[in-house]
Amino acid sequence: MSVPKRKVYLESYGCQMNLADSELILGQLSASGYELVQEPKDSGVILLNTCAVREHAEQRIYGRVAELGRLKNKNPDLVIGVCGCMATHLKEKLIQSSQFLDLVVGPDSYRRLPEIIEKAVKEPFVDVRLDKYENYSGINPIRAAGVKAWVSIMRGCDKFCTFCIVPYVRGREHCLPIEQILDQVKNVADEGYKEVVFLGQTVNSYKDKEEGLEFADLLERAAEVEGIKRIRFTSPHPFDFDDRTIEVMRDNPKICPQVHLPLQSASNSVLDKMKRRYTIEFYDELLQKFRESIPDIGITTDIIVGFPGEEEKDYQHTYDYMTKTKYDSAFMFKYSAREGAKAYNWGDPIPEEEKIRRLEGIIQLQVTISLEINQMEVGQVREVLVEGEAKKEEGSWFGKSPQFRTVVFPKDGAKPGEFVKVRIERATPHTLIGEVVK
Ligand code: 5AD
Ligand code: SF4
Repeated sequence: MSVPKRKVYLESYGCQMNLADSELILGQLSASGYELVQEPKDSGVILLNTCAVREHAEQRIYGRVAELGRLKNKNPDLVIGVCGCMATHLKEKLIQSSQFLDLVVGPDSYRRLPEIIEKAVKEPFVDVRLDKYENYSGINPIRAAGVKAWVSIMRGCDKFCTFCIVPYVRGREHCLPIEQILDQVKNVADEGYKEVVFLGQTVNSYKDKEEGLEFADLLERAAEVEGIKRIRFTSPHPFDFDDRTIEVMRDNPKICPQVHLPLQSASNSVLDKMKRRYTIEFYDELLQKFRESIPDIGITTDIIVGFPGEEEKDYQHTYDYMTKTKYDSAFMFKYSAREGAKAYNWGDPIPEEEKIRRLEGIIQLQVTISLEINQMEVGQVREVLVEGEAKKEEGSWFGKSPQFRTVVFPKDGAKPGEFVKVRIERATPHTLIGEVVK
């Protein structure tokens, strides 16, 4: 028997790398004759592209698989699969733990998905091999419609931060050849996208060894592509920046004045235990270099609280550093012990209530700072790339300023994909509200 209906429903979780992988999955399946459907009930195949970075993400997926599994009562031929990081993390255990799952496919096996689905119709199938040569060249992703296109420039990670399972579930770092990346940039420009977002777990460690080129070269070369108006990238690692990248960002108007600089903690003893490869002094020097070179740069970060061994004084360092530095915004997490990562062996000694207290402390702090930063924007005129309908404000568009701040303004002739100048009139912690300047 073959898959009854070549109709696939795909749900994606996790970071932008994973969302970009979903676009590859769709590209590969559509090349094999699959059609994407918007409702699980209309599909013959349901895939969940999952994240395993924190335990909470995995718990959600179990719940979702059980919910979707009920559709098998009506449609016993339905194939349900888990792709992505959770697949490599849990492997066969996933199939054993759920009666509804038919396939488990890791992030380096998407090229084989059409065959895997055929096999999974007969019996549950697991393919979680990691392959450091797989860069999905030749597969055309089916990108979400809109103004920005994601382009993965590298896969995997070599850093092995002790809290993180990414290197284990996505394998070692491997980069795409620069020419392949530039071809993708040209293609998305031809398709009408205005912005390119380069993606990688440590995106700025990018190298094309054959060509002897680095991340700064890629930025420069991508900025030469006609039709592309804005270039962003995420997530860089503070350890991998060089002065040239900052200079290229400073000197090239297409490269947005924005950087995500994951801090994780401002305590040197915690940074050391996390194996982050920098001290707070090194990090701060880098951050100041960005601010001196590109004075209006928007800076965001990631923070983890409650890492094993984080004492009150360590937490205070982080709190004080955030107070002083004033990030635009921050993704803030409670430490989640992940089996397989090195820190898992150190237990999870900080009680949950204490982790929650620390997390709530910095969240409150950051809301105040984000509001303060946004209020400083009032009166400025910012160039906004219009993205689409604002969710909360009817009759308004939303878009991003060069600094990656969200700007909402009344629809006034402009259309998504166009640039407008907006004078900022009001601010909330998450949004700037303004009027188009004629
Ligand atoms: N627990 C909590 N947060 C984590 N992150 C990665 N691993 C963990 C973990 N085990 C966070 C880090 C990283 C972001 C993508 O996710 O802050 O930068
Ligand atoms: Fe994980 Fe560290 Fe690699 Fe980021 S750099 S993916 S936090 S191991």
